[in-house]
Amino acid sequence: MTDSTPDSAASEYAVLRREGTSLVVERPAAGLPRVLHWGADLGALDPSACSELAVAISRQTAPGTLDAAWQLTILPQEADGWAGRPGALFARQGRPVFPRWSVEEFAADGATLTVRAADAAESLALTATIAILDGGVVTVRHELTNTGTDAVAVEWIEATLPAPKAVDHLTEFSGRWTREKAPHTGPMPRGAHVRQTRRGRSGHDAPHVLLASIDAPRDRSGEVWAVHLGWSADVTYRTDRMTESVAVLGAGEMLRPGEITLAAGQSYETPVCYFAWSDGGLDGISARFHRYLRARPQHPKSPRPLVLNTWEAVYFDHNPEFLLSLADTAAGVGIERFVLDDGWFMARRDDTKGLGDWVVDPAVWPDGLEPLAERVHERGMEFGLWFEPEMVNLDSDVARAHPDWLLHNPAHIEHPAELSWRTQFVLDLANPDAYAHVFGQMDELVTRLGIDFIKWDHNRDLVEAIHDGNYGVHEQTLAAYRLIAELKARHPGLEIESCSSGGARTDLGILQITDRVWASDSNDPVERQDIQRWTELLLPPELVGAHVGPSPAHSSGRFTDLSYRMATSLVGSSGFEWNIAECSEEELETIARFAALYKEVRHVLHGGTVVHGDVRDPGLRLHGFVAEDAAEAVYVIASIVTLEDSLPERARLHGLDPDRTYRVRVRKEIGDTQYGWHHPEWLSRGEVTLPGSVLGTVGLQLPPLWPAQAVVLHVTAV
Ligand code: GLA
Repeated sequence: MTDSTPDSAASEYAVLRREGTSLVVERPAAGLPRVLHWGADLGALDPSACSELAVAISRQTAPGTLDAAWQLTILPQEADGWAGRPGALFARQGRPVFPRWSVEEFAADGATLTVRAADAAESLALTATIAILDGGVVTVRHELTNTGTDAVAVEWIEATLPAPKAVDHLTEFSGRWTREKAPHTGPMPRGAHVRQTRRGRSGHDAPHVLLASIDAPRDRSGEVWAVHLGWSADVTYRTDRMTESVAVLGAGEMLRPGEITLAAGQSYETPVCYFAWSDGGLDGISARFHRYLRARPQHPKSPRPLVLNTWEAVYFDHNPEFLLSLADTAAGVGIERFVLDDGWFMARRDDTKGLGDWVVDPAVWPDGLEPLAERVHERGMEFGLWFEPEMVNLDSDVARAHPDWLLHNPAHIEHPAELSWRTQFVLDLANPDAYAHVFGQMDELVTRLGIDFIKWDHNRDLVEAIHDGNYGVHEQTLAAYRLIAELKARHPGLEIESCSSGGARTDLGILQITDRVWASDSNDPVERQDIQRWTELLLPPELVGAHVGPSPAHSSGRFTDLSYRMATSLVGSSGFEWNIAECSEEELETIARFAALYKEVRHVLHGGTVVHGDVRDPGLRLHGFVAEDAAEAVYVIASIVTLEDSLPERARLHGLDPDRTYRVRVRKEIGDTQYGWHHPEWLSRGEVTLPGSVLGTVGLQLPPLWPAQAVVLHVTAV
């Protein structure tokens, strides 16, 4: 047997550390670097400690494998003895390419490690950028360049990091329209496990975040390794749990055959892959992602305005006089951003016409949108407008004039009905003329009306998307990113919400250039409790649109109390999607009280640490928000069905300072909560004062809440 144990003393090492996480990377004498450790901070390891770490985890040559004692590199491949999914796969002129990388640069600069490698024989160059960002979030990005003359086809390049063999559970997400982000936890699959999407958008069933954990993940404890890909279209998420290796987690763009072919000198850059580790359970993972996102320079800084969106209020039935008066009513109850949804542009009386013609329809708005935009601004609100810039109806001026602008399979263009979706098609934004048309019309309206906010929708999958005779999803996605970025650059201060039939595009790719997501088309607060909770696993609440809709909910027919709908909306970036002109005086007063409460506590909701309750009752939910200095917190305790026990569990208020004393007040602005015949004393009194240690460990006795009831607690240090 060959003894090919790597000489760890001859290796170079990089140690990246931040906020309790560290990454130790080895550059061996030959081949690509390998990650020796990703997880808890191991302290300031010097090269000799790193070398000893390499010795400590060095492996035997497993029976029944290559004679070499192979190592798991950042792009594992067959020649390493790796029988899992390769980290990358290329072909040149139809011939398979198996690179032998030699590292030319291994440079750690603060929190970023840059690795440059090349395969001279195959004329390939690779740059891997591995960084540890705010929150201890690790990012990995690869760039491949064809330094030869013949074209190189990229099948995939995926970022991977190792997790210990001890991870025995995998949590994945799926979902559907109006029920996004549903988690599924099961045993860690054996072998190479792949989860792919092919929708040309993230989709309602997007993998979202893949979580590998030791035991099933809990809110507040346990080790979890998470991965998320910042890409808004087709993706591959992967785990490898091979017999002869530690566990591997990763993700990359799902490319179709020939979609990326690099001519001489061309490069392909992968989307950014985000990794987070925590020993504080799911809340620890969220805290890392939230801290990373909040530290970005483009993260929204101003208080998140209370929204009124007109969709469920009027749908396509636009009546300028009514909408002007709705704006007045909205301003009167404390709304800060008025958003005119679908239905304002040419021929858009229903969802069969008009997409692609971003011109105000004079048949409905004879004086244009100026009077409404002016009224909204005069009343001190921001003006928002809905667009679906990547889409087109065949029944539109633009489609009639430019049928060749469709992102469509030309072989089947004669039978468009086969591939229509909500009677709409996709505009090929990688076509510069189509791009210029959309940019021009949007830019003109944003300038003329002083639009402050765009609800940017995307209401269908991409099906047989062909651009210039090739698969078009990759180019389309980059063109959409460019369009958003260019509009924002042209209009500083313009905010954009990413909507895709609700929450089908909420990833960190789109969020680098947008300011909010619409979590779901379900405004049913019972459904929303979980949709928002799991969207906020990745995104901080200020980025997650959460509106109060009417009762019964339009998406489910469920009747709920206004107090419950408001409490649920408090858990995100709050607003209303309801014809509030039909509300009674009493309801309007409640809305105004709620608006004041939201404004009073939003600095805590949108800047604090998000905590959850680790509650045992399947019908109970506990979301908390604790200010960074722990001087103030808000908790929303909610039921989704009746509770299991007549004496339910106590709600532990996590995240407070155990050494401080807090006053806990029930905020009754939203109205009374229904909880049957038991009245725990603190609840009927409406307040209690206790040390953080007691609130976090003993907690408050809950009443047997009726289904769909909520209590809002405001906690302040005394
Ligand atoms: C999508 C969105 C909704 C609404 C409609 C308008 O379904 O998710 O919020 O904007 O389009 O057509």
